[in-house]
Amino acid sequence: MNIVAALFILLCALAAPISPQAGEQPTAQHSPLVFEPAQTDLGTIPEGKKAVTYLRVRNSSDQMQQIIDIQASCGCTTAEPETRLIMPGDFTRIKVTIDTFAKQNHVQKRITLTDAHGLSSEATLTMRITRSPHAAIGNRSIFDAPCARCHAEPAQGKTEGAALFAAVCAMCHGKQAEGASGPNLHHHARQALQQIITHGTGNHYMPAFARRYGGPLTTEQIAAISRWLAALDE
Ligand code: HEC
Ligand code: HEC
Repeated sequence: MNIVAALFILLCALAAPISPQAGEQPTAQHSPLVFEPAQTDLGTIPEGKKAVTYLRVRNSSDQMQQIIDIQASCGCTTAEPETRLIMPGDFTRIKVTIDTFAKQNHVQKRITLTDAHGLSSEATLTMRITRSPHAAIGNRSIFDAPCARCHAEPAQGKTEGAALFAAVCAMCHGKQAEGASGPNLHHHARQALQQIITHGTGNHYMPAFARRYGGPLTTEQIAAISRWLAALDE
């Protein structure tokens, strides 16, 4: 090894711990493909209407970068880049479409991109969804084909209340049923829980989960979730 190479390696080793990328999370490596801005508020959108926005992504490095993958936290959101290869200092736009069916109040969606080195960047979208009784919501359900993969199928074959809750309820009621887009579920009697989960609340925000009403859960699975929820307060 010549002296230049040795010096180079030494410099890299010295530079690593004080790299400017190391923010609050010193171990997290961020992609040089950065969302600008990282947070976007879409304002107020009536439920049922598709929300479309464009997010700007800048290549902050001095090398060409490639977008390999883009993921949205909920499958109701799609994200498509205009170009995947971005020159140093250049920009691309990502078209984001959010299906607002069954959304209510304050909604937050995360978009994560991954570059060719496996590093990622994240953008957050916030919006306020207003209830619109006149929207063409029709007979749609969160258990329909494009949504069932995440909102129904994960319950298949599960028998434990905790696992079932984590699979198909927590996304709306919070991990410990503390409330999220759906209400807090503590302090409910087991019987009442069983009734509501079976029949739903009469609107599409909280549909009937029982198989006999088109939902994904068996009577035994509903009983298991109700027992688990009622026991949270003991
Ligand atoms: C790839 C898995 C996946 C698919 C497919 C999916 N969702 Fe979701 N959904 C989630 C996750 C995870 C959450 C939790 C909130 C989050 O991370 O965005 C969620 C949350 C929700 C919520 C409540 C929270 C909020 O964002 O308001 C609603 C309502 C919802 N989804 C509706 C739908 C509808 C309607 C479809 C079909 C058009 C759908 N989802 C498809 C994974 C999915
Ligand atoms: C797509 C989001 C979503 C999913 C998934 C969901 N819920 Fe709900 N849930 C809601 C919303 C929103 C309400 C309030 C509905 C209303 O006011 O009519 C609600 C209401 C309820 C209530 C009535 C609470 C009260 O105090 O009136 C119970 C109980 C409940 N959900 C249990 C569950 C269980 C158990 C699961 C999983 C099997 C589940 N929910 C899955 C959104 C969801």
